[in-house]
Amino acid sequence: MSEGTFEPKIVGFLCNWCSYRAADLAGTARIKHAPNVRIIRVMCSGRVDPTFILKALALGADGVMVAGCHPGECHYIEQNYKAMRRFHMIRHTLRALGIEEQRVRLVWASAAEGQQLAEAIDQLVEDVRKLGPLRWNAHWAEDPSHLHAVETIEHEHAEAIEVLP
Ligand code: FES
Repeated sequence: MSEGTFEPKIVGFLCNWCSYRAADLAGTARIKHAPNVRIIRVMCSGRVDPTFILKALALGADGVMVAGCHPGECHYIEQNYKAMRRFHMIRHTLRALGIEEQRVRLVWASAAEGQQLAEAIDQLVEDVRKLGPLRWNAHWAEDPSHLHAVETIEHEHAEAIEVLP
């Protein structure tokens, strides 16, 4: 990393049954991708509560990837459809907060798709690099009323926010 070059910090929530294995495959197959992603393994993309994403951004991530099994292939039947609904909700919320929605991405990658996952990681890192650092705290200070947008998420999207047992 050269001095003065912005290297995005990305948090990746990867489903244990597919995308996490795709990342593993990418590693063992020596498929190169940007090293900017801190991977958090979850049992299903449907397990990713929207607050996980907001918290990652609030704690300093510049972007977040949620990756799961392709629609119709979720090990928990249709939880990735829930992930899809939450994804639209979170993008809506980020827009309301004045944060570029391109900073969050939902990706489908089977265990065999190490190459596709690597490409999706590279694309997200590149896109976030163009956007620049998030500095959510700076956004927050500019308009404290944004707090209201976060406080109302739960009520506006009660169905989508339901978390797996
Ligand atoms: Fe992979 Fe649900 S088990 S998205």
